[in-house]
Amino acid sequence: MERTQDCRGGSVGAQRVHFASHLQTMAKMEVKTSLLDNMIGVGDMVLLEPLNEETFINNLKKRFDHNEIYTYIGSVVISVNPYRSLPIYSPEKVEDYRNRNFYELSPHIFALSDEAYRSLRDQDKDQCILITGESGAGKTEASKLVMSYVAAVCGKGAEVNQVKEQLLQSNPVLEAFGNAKTVRNDNSSRFGKYMDIEFDFKGDPLGGVISNYLLEKSRVVKQPRGERNFHVFYQLLSGASEELLHKLKLEQDFSRYNYLSLDSAKVNGVDDAANFRTVRNAMQIVGFMDHEAESVLEVVAAVLKLGNIEFKPESRVNGLDESKIKDKNELKEICELTGIDQSVLERAFSFRTVEAKQEKVSTTLNVAQAYYARDALAKNLYSRLFSWLVNRINESIKAQTKVRKKVMGVLDIYGFEIFESADNSFEQFIINYCNEKLQQIFIELTLKEEQEEYIREDIEWTHIDYFNNAIICDLIENNTNGILAMLDEECLRPGTVTDDTFLEKLNQVCATHQHFESRMSRCSRFLNDTSLPHSCFRIQHYAGKVLYQVEGFVDKNNDLLYRDLSQAMWKAGHALIKSLFPEGNPAKINLKRPPTAGSQFKASVATLMKNLQTKNPNYIRCIKPNDKKAAHVFTESLVCHQIRYLGLLENVRVRRAGYAFRQAYEPCLERYKMLCKQTWPHWKGPARSGVEVLFNELEIPMEEYSFGRSKIFIRNPRTLFALEDLRKQRLEDLATLIQKIYRGWKCRTHFLLMKKSQIVIAAWCRRYAQQKRYQQIKASALAIQSYIRGWKARKILRELKHQKRCKAAATTIAAYWHGTQARRELKRLKEEARRKHAVAVIWAYWLGLKVRREYRKYFRANAGKKIYEFTLQRIVQKYFLEMKNKMPSLSPIDKNWPSRPYLFLDSTHKELKRIFHLWRCKKYRDQFTDQQKLIYEEKLEASELFKDKKALYPSSVGQPFQGAYLEINKNPKYKKLKDAIEEKIIIAEVVNKINRANGKSTSRIFLLTNNNLLLADQKSGQIKSEVPLVDVTKVSMSSQNDGFFAVHLKEGSEAASKGDFLFSSDHLIEMATKLYRTTLSQTKQKLNIEISDEFLVQFRQDKVCVKFIQGNQKNGSVPTCKRKNNRLLEVAVP
Ligand SMILES: Nc1ncnc2c1ncn2[C@@H]1O[C@H](COP(=O)(O)OP(=O)(O)O)[C@@H](O)[C@H]1O
Ligand SMILES: [Mg+2]
Repeated sequence: MERTQDCRGGSVGAQRVHFASHLQTMAKMEVKTSLLDNMIGVGDMVLLEPLNEETFINNLKKRFDHNEIYTYIGSVVISVNPYRSLPIYSPEKVEDYRNRNFYELSPHIFALSDEAYRSLRDQDKDQCILITGESGAGKTEASKLVMSYVAAVCGKGAEVNQVKEQLLQSNPVLEAFGNAKTVRNDNSSRFGKYMDIEFDFKGDPLGGVISNYLLEKSRVVKQPRGERNFHVFYQLLSGASEELLHKLKLEQDFSRYNYLSLDSAKVNGVDDAANFRTVRNAMQIVGFMDHEAESVLEVVAAVLKLGNIEFKPESRVNGLDESKIKDKNELKEICELTGIDQSVLERAFSFRTVEAKQEKVSTTLNVAQAYYARDALAKNLYSRLFSWLVNRINESIKAQTKVRKKVMGVLDIYGFEIFESADNSFEQFIINYCNEKLQQIFIELTLKEEQEEYIREDIEWTHIDYFNNAIICDLIENNTNGILAMLDEECLRPGTVTDDTFLEKLNQVCATHQHFESRMSRCSRFLNDTSLPHSCFRIQHYAGKVLYQVEGFVDKNNDLLYRDLSQAMWKAGHALIKSLFPEGNPAKINLKRPPTAGSQFKASVATLMKNLQTKNPNYIRCIKPNDKKAAHVFTESLVCHQIRYLGLLENVRVRRAGYAFRQAYEPCLERYKMLCKQTWPHWKGPARSGVEVLFNELEIPMEEYSFGRSKIFIRNPRTLFALEDLRKQRLEDLATLIQKIYRGWKCRTHFLLMKKSQIVIAAWCRRYAQQKRYQQIKASALAIQSYIRGWKARKILRELKHQKRCKAAATTIAAYWHGTQARRELKRLKEEARRKHAVAVIWAYWLGLKVRREYRKYFRANAGKKIYEFTLQRIVQKYFLEMKNKMPSLSPIDKNWPSRPYLFLDSTHKELKRIFHLWRCKKYRDQFTDQQKLIYEEKLEASELFKDKKALYPSSVGQPFQGAYLEINKNPKYKKLKDAIEEKIIIAEVVNKINRANGKSTSRIFLLTNNNLLLADQKSGQIKSEVPLVDVTKVSMSSQNDGFFAVHLKEGSEAASKGDFLFSSDHLIEMATKLYRTTLSQTKQKLNIEISDEFLVQFRQDKVCVKFIQGNQKNGSVPTCKRKNNRLLEVAVP
């Protein structure tokens, strides 16, 4: 299956794509975007018409002014440095370009990266990305963008992320050590870098390998004006902590170090201190151990300090110049830092030992030589440290697995460097040689691919002439008479060798070469060329002529480091420094000269070229728009110069020599099918025949296009643009058509919707109206119905009422009639009765009259009395008979008695009531037992004695008289007491005996027997006093509601010796009654009971008055007794 859309010249050619990816592409095609849409200027220079330098630059400028910094030449990306950050590298942009076709979106470095990555992943083609352009053109940035894009789109996962992170973080480390501020670029890479990123079959990154090319080490000891040393020195001094600086024996002040040029130590917008932290952090991420990072900084410090060693001349006797270190302090510190024996290093700076054929010859160094040695050491130390760093990073980032890897190489090499005056030296020569080689590989690969595609597609191909720079490469690298070979030869030659002898040699050997120019060459062409100084030679590079100053070539190529120094270094205690100088090991002494810088570089470039040739190349050609590092400035002359030496126009021409545009049939048909009726809207058949029909129909001249196997090839961009214009026109028509149809459809749908709505609304309206009408009719019908029903009902009601009234009237009439009749009859009967009565009365009167007349003579004297008696008898009889029925109940307390019927019976009635009461009382009494009788007798006695006399009495009526309240017989406590008494006990009760002396009371058992009155102790039951009843003369008590009573004793009796008793008891009435009765029955004398509120009591010899006062509420309801004086005892009764 061919690529669906490809107009990348022939460089990619037919590529087998995955079915899945094809589907994906198809899906993307749905959007049908193209580079050709919304184009500013021309996105692909191949389509530029007319093609000349001016249009080319104008197109670039136009795009640059619209922030379009990328432009294609086929598959080559031209990138113009914007010198400001553009919002075109966001993650969204990454997503946009991800898995999209190269020409689908506007030109972008991501499109190239994506193309390369997908080609690597899906088609198993190793890729290389070649970034070229002059210093400051944006190569390093471009390489970082490519790497970050690939990192963003390749696999994810913890392990993969770590690999990515390490790969990305290797950049800050290498930039710190390998980049410097130059006049062209604040962050100029001073080494060539080629990085292979390795992927597994899934496209996940496994690791990487970095190769570095020729670090510009001369910068370590000397920097051109306005430029700086490598970043790391400044970063270390500004970013390291006090502690670290102290440890490294450094000071923060740049001016302390001879190797640091001062005029541009600070770079605008660059924070060296912050970058130092970034670098240390990056070192950590990449995998540097802490001690390794420290060692690296120690070497950096040592290099810095080396620059401060100064020499002074010292003459020796034999006339030889000798040098001496001015101030040994610095040397001492370096030795401490590096662990080198100070004397060894000092010696190495003073002598040079040359070994030849087992013979050692030591010569002293003069001041110039000593400085040379010092600088050589510093440069070597630094450049070897840099190589070590690269190796160390490689160790960290190298793929851990042995699986087959796919490789993407990113080449960020220093670009063509042409200094205006004759400042170009060995470094520029080397750099330009490298670029020459790159240009060659560019030409070779591009044309080869192009040609291959034509052959593959079966297209007739006539060879296009282009400038092949192989001849220049040959001038430089030819093994026998190339410039580098000459230089080497000169360096190895015994005898005095200078740069001038080298130039002479060149003048001899290369004089005839087309691209070599020299004033002194045998060829007299340039004898009068004043622009060509005598100490210079000029090479016509593919990109222009470069004038090289021959001075320093030999030295730089020799890259000489005296053996004494390398041996001193090898002896260092510092492990890293020791490892950097293996040749210093005396055991491995190698008399062979080390390879020269030139030959080393040539070899490594050759390897690089070989490596690149095996890969699918992707070109990014960077252009620097101005010399001021300024945004928005486009200096046409400068750009023009770059375009020339980058050979971009040639590039376009080579591409256009064949066919300017090619595209697979399917996407081509898809894009232009609307231009022909047969293919629009669908072409049923192979895409190729569709395109054939299309092109025939459009009458495109036959010579303008060719049919390949899978692609159509269009020779002239004009044709393509014509096609595009047609397409645009047609698209407008189609848009109008679509608009028309859409509008029609919209209106129709709208109309239909309205119509439908109208029907619905109408239906609803009708329904509503009908519903309303129906409801009205229904309501009316109901109303009428109800009126009729009401009317009917009322009519019936009226009839029924009438009937009912008729019936009622009849009944009433009948009733009245009957009433009338009845009343008439009654009247008649009454009349009749009255008459009968009258008759009877009259008759009786008449009879009486007659009888009286007749019998008057017999009755007149006794009749009245007899009648009176008879009547009286009759009335009495009736009274008694009636009374019999009206008798009240038999209860003696029932007070009811029928009312008297006749006044004359009043006394009888009362008598009868009395008799009846007596009778029923008797009846009541008759049912009493003897005991009850006794009780009632006693009660009666009490009543007679106290009723209306003592206020206490009424409360005693309800209390039954029990007598023996204390059950002496039963209570064992009183057994002795019981035994002492033989008589019947009438009263046994506890009373309070009032103390005669103070009125206080004590409890005593009060016992009354038939003959005696006894007082006993309540607790012990012991008899205290015994009074025969005959000795009791009187009992006194108050009339009030208290229980006090005094028992008066007969004067002179035995019992009376102590005096009378004064008691109080709850059962005063009962006790007094029983005492009275017992005394009466025993002595046949009535006991005197005195009821008075003041009485006298005999206490021994004294007579004391007991006085009762009423109304003392002090002690509540209990009466209190108090002896007032000898004569008075006062009892307060509440
Ligand atoms: N794509 C870009 N977007 C924004 N600035 C860029 C871009 N490319 C380069 N630059 C700016 O140009 C400067 C020089 O770029 P650099 O890649 O270091 O040049 P080179 O490596 O070619 O010498 C960068 O430091 C940066 O400020
Ligand atoms: Mg760079």
